Amino acid sequence: MVFTPYHIGKMELKNRWIMLAMHTGFAQGTALAERDFAFYEERAKGGAAAVTCLLAVNEAGALKGMYDAATVERDSLRQLAARIHAHDCKLIVQLFHCGRNESGKNHGERPLLAPSAVASPIFRTEPKEMTAEDLMQTKADFAKAAALCKEIGADAVEVSASAGYLLSEFFSPLSNLREDTYGYQNEKGMTYPLEVLQEVRKAVGEHPVLVKVSGAQMVEGGYELADTIRFCKKAEESGLLDGVTVTGGWHESPIEQISYHVSKGAYAPLAGMVKKYLSVPVIACNRIQDLETAERILSQGLCDFCGTARAFLADPAFAARLQEGKFYLPCQGCNKCIMGVLKGKKIACAFYPEAGMEYFERERRKIATKKEVLVIGGGPAGMEAAKKAAERGFQTTLACREKELGGQLRLAALPPKKGDLLRYIDYMRHTLEELGVTILTETNIDVEFIKEMSPYFTVIASGSVPKKMPIDGLSDEKYFTAQEVLSMSDENLAEMLQGEIVILGGGAIGLETAAFLAEKTSSPHIKIIERKEKMGAELGAMARPLLNELAKKEVSLLTTTEVQAAEGRKLFVKIGEMPFFVQADTVIWAGGAESVVDGEIPLYFMDERMNYAIVGDADRVGDGGDAIAGAYELFTRVYLA
Ligand SMILES: Cc1cc2nc3c(=O)[nH]c(=O)nc-3n(C[C@H](O)[C@H](O)[C@H](O)COP(=O)(O)O)c2cc1C
Repeated sequence: MVFTPYHIGKMELKNRWIMLAMHTGFAQGTALAERDFAFYEERAKGGAAAVTCLLAVNEAGALKGMYDAATVERDSLRQLAARIHAHDCKLIVQLFHCGRNESGKNHGERPLLAPSAVASPIFRTEPKEMTAEDLMQTKADFAKAAALCKEIGADAVEVSASAGYLLSEFFSPLSNLREDTYGYQNEKGMTYPLEVLQEVRKAVGEHPVLVKVSGAQMVEGGYELADTIRFCKKAEESGLLDGVTVTGGWHESPIEQISYHVSKGAYAPLAGMVKKYLSVPVIACNRIQDLETAERILSQGLCDFCGTARAFLADPAFAARLQEGKFYLPCQGCNKCIMGVLKGKKIACAFYPEAGMEYFERERRKIATKKEVLVIGGGPAGMEAAKKAAERGFQTTLACREKELGGQLRLAALPPKKGDLLRYIDYMRHTLEELGVTILTETNIDVEFIKEMSPYFTVIASGSVPKKMPIDGLSDEKYFTAQEVLSMSDENLAEMLQGEIVILGGGAIGLETAAFLAEKTSSPHIKIIERKEKMGAELGAMARPLLNELAKKEVSLLTTTEVQAAEGRKLFVKIGEMPFFVQADTVIWAGGAESVVDGEIPLYFMDERMNYAIVGDADRVGDGGDAIAGAYELFTRVYLA
């Protein structure tokens, strides 16, 4: 069903995949540039029925790096529409106003406008309460922007009224404290958004108009699904709508919205409820990124279209590959993209470093002569380096010690909900094979091998190993690394889980190892000890869902705690300045790691004046995304004479 045509108003769509709006942060001047065109063009080429780009309705409504309708150069928008249409794909333009939802620092001199002077709990900058004049002007700007979109050849406009941006702020009693007609007390704050839709409709006539709403605010005291349905119904009854996009909650909702903690299609039932009350098509979204989920929600009648942002970010050819039954790069829900964009950075994907770099990728030359690249290591950095080397025309060999590609990602895939990492590894292996990379597994690379092969360039991506902190009195039989634990047999794990477990290190590895263990028993006895004041500090907002899960399993978390020594079952610690002890039958090291590089190899390269580079954990220990980024960047620099 997902590859059958359908329509939204008079916009005919070749299938049910719509690429949703994603703020890219690319805008530097007032004209869309090749970087913008290439970003959308690749996704249009990649099988999306429609792609959505963003246009702020005026300068005050623009996020950092966003074009706005008041200043954007028309011809550049026209060019975008034409270039999208060339791939049998439609262009939807989201009409956007950020409201209070940007940091004061990134918003600069421009005023942050909102229904009331209530700061967002994320950005903490108090906005200016909109005056009657601001309201009139903004409404007129929505209409002008809509007319502009129609004029430049966009196939539909989508009015943004979701996630905590301007129009959704009117729906909420928490952000709309106005006492005039636009206040929450009057029609639950729907009056202004409805007037905006009315003006948009007037401006575009029968041209398709969509609205993007949150199913519910998902914040205590906020608006609910019934309110969203009422708003959509009113808009539809007044002839203002041709379709509705239904997302989950707001950015500030304490409930997970789009990370890997959300199961696939989990919010589609919200779209389903909206759809029950409407006759216009409904687009569901949030973690709809595979065929099975798409077919399921469509056949259950929860939506008419599947909206996805990150499936197309992680793989521009997502829809085409899915249709052809090919491997595609699955979004991992790691949220690095959205966390970056909300901080004012340009869009990027941790697993697909080409995202946002499409234009530069097109410009890269291939080497003219046959030259060999050797990549040592089959983890994320090694796989990425081999991919880029082969793409640029090098005869590439990747060698790794292990039986299979993937490196530490194979273990990282074991904690709950992380299984999609295995699909990423499969995708990479397949891509390397397609690119003609020679893959040598169970191969130990030494200087002799290199002498014989004599590559033009070698990438050392040999990864890292955990570096256990020595603890006085702790025997090796009860002191493991997280990696050893993740690789243990179920039998050994079951035995370990009968005793008291202490994990040293409350970073991503420690928290995920705890989640992995806690999933295996109904009554885990697990403590995590962390030196710093915060658990999962490097995870940012992604720590919260993990910590919630661990709290449900009654995993104890001890921060500002340091291990001193062990004796028998006692592990002596210091909590702040206070000496203390905890029971430990097993201690698991989830702290630091150290780079692994066979020192003879770089020495040989230096002696022979041969080119080489060290990337990923072998260079500096980080996460998978850092490793991939390092390898990618290397091949934007390698000399290609
Ligand atoms: C980097 C990024 C930027 C986004 N920017 C916007 C935006 O400006 N406007 C909007 O309505 N939604 C925005 N979204 C939300 C998406 O349109 C979509 O609703 C959400 O990501 C859920 O879909 P997905 O799970 O397929 O990614 C953004 C999402 C991401 C990942």
